[in-house]
Amino acid sequence: MSTKKTGGLAGVNAGESAICTVGQGAGLNYRGYSIEDLAAHASFEEVAYLLQFGELPDRDQLAAYQRELVAARHLPEPLRAMLQEIPGDAQPMDVLRTGCSALGTMEPENRDHSDQDRVITRLLGVFPSMLLYWYHHHQHGAVMSTDSGETTIAGYFLEKLLGRPPSDEETACMQASLILYAEHEFNASTFACRICASTLSDTYSAITTGIGVLRGPLHGGANEEAMHLIESFSSTEEATRGVYERLEKKQLLMGFGHRVYGLDGDPRSPIIKEWSRRLGGETMTYAISETIENVMKQEKPQLPTNADFYSASAYHFLGIPTDFFTPIFVMSRTSGWAAHIKEQRANNKLIRPSSEYTGPEKRPFVPLDER
Ligand code: COA
Repeated sequence: MSTKKTGGLAGVNAGESAICTVGQGAGLNYRGYSIEDLAAHASFEEVAYLLQFGELPDRDQLAAYQRELVAARHLPEPLRAMLQEIPGDAQPMDVLRTGCSALGTMEPENRDHSDQDRVITRLLGVFPSMLLYWYHHHQHGAVMSTDSGETTIAGYFLEKLLGRPPSDEETACMQASLILYAEHEFNASTFACRICASTLSDTYSAITTGIGVLRGPLHGGANEEAMHLIESFSSTEEATRGVYERLEKKQLLMGFGHRVYGLDGDPRSPIIKEWSRRLGGETMTYAISETIENVMKQEKPQLPTNADFYSASAYHFLGIPTDFFTPIFVMSRTSGWAAHIKEQRANNKLIRPSSEYTGPEKRPFVPLDER
């Protein structure tokens, strides 16, 4: 296999999966359901259930799953103590990465993974608590209770962050965003989770791996970088000039381009853009965002907005701090990662590709004193 042709493994089919289709002329579908339908009509919990168990839940199944997710919000005392010890100026992604790994020491998975669904549901339920407990402890000197009347992950996260019950519109936006970020086939972090699972490692290790990979600005971190870009301009004129300058210097504009979607663009983008418009369409932030998009459309039509670009302003309008954008991605993508970990385990084969060697020819060893 030539590395020239397959740089970054682009276009390489790395395995079979029945979870999601990305692109291929059919848009984005989770187990056959379009994200347009799911984002418009389902809750994140329904989608997480679909990914975890293969089918949409009926009313009773959904109610039981929601009860389990609510019960999974609690933070054991050693985890609270650890979250207090993590510096207040740490990266929130590092808090989740560390918290996930730490919980694996406190509530380990069975060696045969027979309780994998318990672990997955636990992580989906606890991630918002972990992040916001650490945040309130360090920012406000407050002890956050995990009690809440909010039954959904979206509502719970917003209530604990904002300190008030979110409006129906805010919760609906958050639900849609969690659904859009839930699953995306063999993206870098999911593939990393599958590699980890393929060694028969545990679910906590696989999800910790996923968090580490998602953190990078070429992947999940792009939504935060997109917000920094938008906030670096104070007017649409400045934004127009700034985008041209960056393009001239061959700098990346975060939130544009995608490895898989071509000119058709990322189908998640129009959905989250509409939410951004609904929440902040009258603001300068939104106008600057559209200006950046329009200049890119004109100058780089082959690089349309991806899901991260308008997620940035939508989250901003919800009052979410920028460095929480990628942790929200974790709260959502854990559902997709988990589906892939389960699928990998169900028909496992160690993932171990080979490389094309480009180093020196075989040569004699030179003793230390002779070098
Ligand atoms: N802004 C400016 N130029 C970009 C660009 C962007 N966002 N994305 C790609 N390009 C340019 C590259 O510099 C490269 O130019 P070159 O041929 O002159 O070297 C060309 O387009 C091809 O890009 P490449 O990096 O080879 O494509 P890829 O498939 O490896 O990259 C991404 C895909 C997503 C990593 C890439 O588009 C990117 O870095 N986007 C910004 C980060 C981002 O939004 N990530 C979230 C993805 S959901």
